[in-house]
Amino acid sequence: MSKIKVFRCRICGDPYLGDEAPTQCPFCGAPTRFFVEAKDWNPDEFNVDLSKITQKNLEAALQLELDNAAFYDCAKNMADKADDHYGLAKFKALMKVEREHASAISKFLKISLPELEKQICSENSKANSKEGYEREDRAIKAYSKFRDEAIEPRLKEFFGALVEIETDHLDLHKKDTS
Ligand SMILES: [Fe+2]
Ligand SMILES: [Fe+2]
Repeated sequence: MSKIKVFRCRICGDPYLGDEAPTQCPFCGAPTRFFVEAKDWNPDEFNVDLSKITQKNLEAALQLELDNAAFYDCAKNMADKADDHYGLAKFKALMKVEREHASAISKFLKISLPELEKQICSENSKANSKEGYEREDRAIKAYSKFRDEAIEPRLKEFFGALVEIETDHLDLHKKDTS
């Protein structure tokens, strides 16, 4: 008999079916330690009383995530046009992850996920990986600050997880630009 179970990711809230929790969340990229079995899910995970500073920082994070998701969407389309299958896969995966981050932030803010606005990008995937590196670097610096400023333990944890995830993205771009 299959040992399949239902898990949930505490960073994005999405459910996952598997024998075990994945090494990285397929939706938001959070590492395995953030998974819980769905039966143990805390329904108030995204229902946190937000301090003024955290509210402001979540709004800034939302804008960053939406901009980066739209940038990766552009980069994905350019890679597709250039028959760059690797670039298409990478930028598509990153676009989905950043949109998922925007969605998780929207849950904390109790708003619906805003539409992506158009962003410009290069026709060249290597140039887009370079810009991706700079975008991830800016996000990591912002989220480290937001993590340190958060009074709420749950938001400290959330911003800390984003720092980890965006650092994985940074490393990925580094490999593709060196
Ligand atoms: Fe997740
Ligand atoms: Fe992100």
